[in-house]
Amino acid sequence: MTGSSSPTEAAVADAALAVPVWDLPVRLFHWTLVGLIAFSWWSAEYDRIEWHLWSGLGVMSLLIFRLLWGVFGSSTARFGNFVRGPRATFDYLRKPREWGGIGHTPLGALSVVALLLLLLVQVSLGLVMSDEDGVVSGPLNRLVSFEAAERAGELHELLFNVLLGLIALHVAAILFYRLVLGKRLTGAMITGRTLAHGGAEPMRRGKWWAAVLCLIAGLAITRWIIAGAPPLGT
Ligand code: HEM
Repeated sequence: MTGSSSPTEAAVADAALAVPVWDLPVRLFHWTLVGLIAFSWWSAEYDRIEWHLWSGLGVMSLLIFRLLWGVFGSSTARFGNFVRGPRATFDYLRKPREWGGIGHTPLGALSVVALLLLLLVQVSLGLVMSDEDGVVSGPLNRLVSFEAAERAGELHELLFNVLLGLIALHVAAILFYRLVLGKRLTGAMITGRTLAHGGAEPMRRGKWWAAVLCLIAGLAITRWIIAGAPPLGT
C-alpha cells in the first residue's frame, strides 16, 4: 500500500485498545494491601493485638516487596518511570485529557508515593511503639526509651487517621476519574488491562522470577528486622 492512510486505517490506529497496564504482582500487592489494612484496623479495634502485629508485619513485607518491584519490576511499576517532578504534574493538571500514557498519571503518582511513605512510617512506628500502659508493645520496642515508645504509640494512632484521609482521597480521585473523565481505573487494577490509544508506550513486563525474589526478599528482610525480638503478642 502506498500514500497516506485511509480514514478507516486512521480510525483503527486511533481506536482505544485493551492493553496490559498492571502486572499480576502489582495487582496482588494492591488488593492484599487493602485486605491487610482493613484487617489491621479490625484487629486493633477489637483488641486482637497478636493478629494486629502479624498483620502489620505482613504490610511491612508487602511494602518492601513493592519498593523492590518499583526498581526491578514491569515498566508501569517502576518508580523511575512514574514519579514525576512538579512541572510534569502541573502540565498534567492543566490538560488531564491530553495525557496519553498508561499507568500512574503524574498526579496519581503523588498519591501512590504518599500512601507508600505513610505506610512505611506507620509500620516503623508499630515496630517500636508501646501503648500508654506499656502492656502492648511492638517487636523492636526494646531499642527505644519508654518515652519514645509511648510517643511512637501516640503517633501510630494519629497517623492512622491521616492514612484514612489519604485512602478517602485515593478513592475519591478514582470516582472522579470514573464520573468526570470517564476512565474505569478500578477495572484495570482487577484485570490488569486498560484502554489506550495506539501512541501509548506499551508496558514492558518484569520477569516472574524477579517478582518471586522480591517477595522472598520482603519476607526475609522483615524476618531479619524482627530477629531476636520476643514472640509476638508477649
Ligand atoms: C486500604 C485502602 C487502599 C490503599 C492503601 C491503596 C493503595 C494503593 C497504592 C499503594 C496504589 C499504587 C499501586 C502500585 O503502583 O503498586 C494504588 C493504586 C490504585 N488503587 Fe488503591 N488503595 C486502597 C484502596 C483502593 C480501593 C478501595 C480501590 C477501588 C475502588 C482502589 C483502586 C486503585 C486503583 C484503580 C489504582 C491505580 C490508580 C492509577 O491508575 O494510577 N484502591 N492503591
